[in-house]
This record gives sequence, structure tokens and C-alpha cells, in this order.
Amino acid sequence: MTENAHRQAAVRVRGLRRVFGARAVLDGLELDIARGEFVALLGASGSGKTTLLRILGALDGADGGEVLVPEARTIVFQEPRLVPSKKVLANVTVALPRGRRDDGLRALAEVGLERHADAWPATLSGGEAQRVALARALVREPELLLLDEPFAALDALTRLKMQDLVDELCRKHRPAVLLVTHDVEEAVRLADRVAVLRDGRLVTDEKVTVARPRDPGDPAFAALRRRLLDDLGVPAASHPVKTPELDRVGVI
Ligand SMILES: Nc1ncnc2c1ncn2[C@@H]1O[C@H](COP(=O)(O)OP(=O)(O)OP(=O)(O)O)[C@@H](O)[C@H]1O
Ligand SMILES: [Mg+2]
Repeated sequence: MTENAHRQAAVRVRGLRRVFGARAVLDGLELDIARGEFVALLGASGSGKTTLLRILGALDGADGGEVLVPEARTIVFQEPRLVPSKKVLANVTVALPRGRRDDGLRALAEVGLERHADAWPATLSGGEAQRVALARALVREPELLLLDEPFAALDALTRLKMQDLVDELCRKHRPAVLLVTHDVEEAVRLADRVAVLRDGRLVTDEKVTVARPRDPGDPAFAALRRRLLDDLGVPAASHPVKTPELDRVGVI
């Protein structure tokens, strides 16, 4: 990496290794994410995506290799993980110093939930709860935002709305983003770069050059989607018809 590239990097991973029992789940993995860059990570179930995210979030350690990440980083998981005994606003500001109520309200407004500030988490829909989790992550102005299938538990329509919201908020706040997803279409819609994790390392890592706003009907979109499904080992016969649901089922 040149001196200039080094300054621009938010994430730099070299030769990362993580072993569980006899299996090296991550084995020589290399990954760079530039400041403000949005990377989507695809991979079959059990390929090590969450393991990688947990290491980048310092929730787990590595067995070898080098990992450089910014100090300011937050994770959003598949389930919102709100504290049930705290109201919505208190959940958003939970990791902030006291007296940052206004920042919390602003973050809630960004996800369209300022009117729910005084609600209990149990009264929220799944999509609303996930928006609160997103507000809680963004209020800390992370330099690195780690997203582990944050839309997977949502219905198709809510998922599309959440994708648009994340797209909008990431363009505004410009954190580096690593989004883990099973959904190839989601990856191509949102990301500056897509990567596929297989056998412990990234077998694909390429820029998405499809013009924005990205339309699945664009031949370049369809071609990249097909290539990624191939890299994921989904046989052509199982993805002749383009639907988001099929993409999801195909690689689980
Ligand atoms: N703490 C652990 N102890 C033992 N094995 C683990 C541990 N964490 C993960 N594994 C194993 O490592 C492999 C990768 O797990 P990981 O959760 O990273 O997969 P994933 O790609 O996120 O899958 P999914 O798409 O289903 O979420 C799996 O085989 C899993 O059983
Ligand atoms: Mg996972």
C-alpha cells in the first residue's frame, strides 16, 4: 500500500486467520476498505462472514494476521438488540456521554422515528426497531459501520425501504461500511464494491460500475448479479428468474 493509499484506508486486513477446532474459517483473508467506501460481503451460510465482522468490531480475536480498523466503529446485527427496559431515545443514546439528548433526537429524526422517542421497544414493529438500532449506530458518528444482515428479518417491502434509508444515511455521514448480506441484489444495489467470501478468503473483490440509481433491469446489473451467484456456487439452473426472494434462498 502506498503512503497515500494508507492515509485513505479505513480498514486494512492482511493474512487474517481464525480457527475453530480443526477448521480455519478465515484463512489468509485480505481486505481494504477506503474511507467512506461501501463494501458488500456475500458468502454462503457458515462461510465466516459474521466471524469477520466480529473481529473487525473487536468482539472476537484473530488467530493470526493483521487487522487495522478505526477506533470509532459500530455494529448493527440482524436483530435490533434494544434494551427492553429503556425507552427508544435512551436506547439510541445508551453509549453516549450524558446530556446528548439532542443528538439522540436528531438521529431518531433521521430514521423517521422522532415521535417514538418516548416509546418502549416492545411497542415497535420489527422495521421500526431496526431503524432505532441504525440510529443508535449512527449517532456515534462511526468511521466504520459494520452491518450483519440488518434487513434479513424484515418483509420485502420494509427491506427495500431500509435499503434506501441506509443508502441515504451512509451518503450523508460517509462512514466506511461493510454490509454482510445473503441478498445479491441488495449488494449490487447499494455497494461501491462487492466481495465474496469462500474457503476462508475473498474469492471475488470488485468495484460495482453499474450506473446509479441502480436498476435490476440494467444489463450491467444483471450480468454482475449472475457472476456473483456463480461465485457463490449457485448453479445457473437455480437462478434463471430474477426475484430478490430467489437470490436469498439460492445461497442460504
Ligand atoms: N465461537 C465459535 N465456536 C466454534 N465455532 C464457531 C464459532 N463462531 C463461529 N463458528 C463456526 O464458524 C463458521 C462460520 O461462522 P459464521 O457465523 O462466521 O458464518 P456466517 O458466514 O456468518 O454464516 P450465516 O450466513 O449463516 O450467518 C461456522 O461453521 C460456525 O459454526
Ligand atoms: Mg452470520
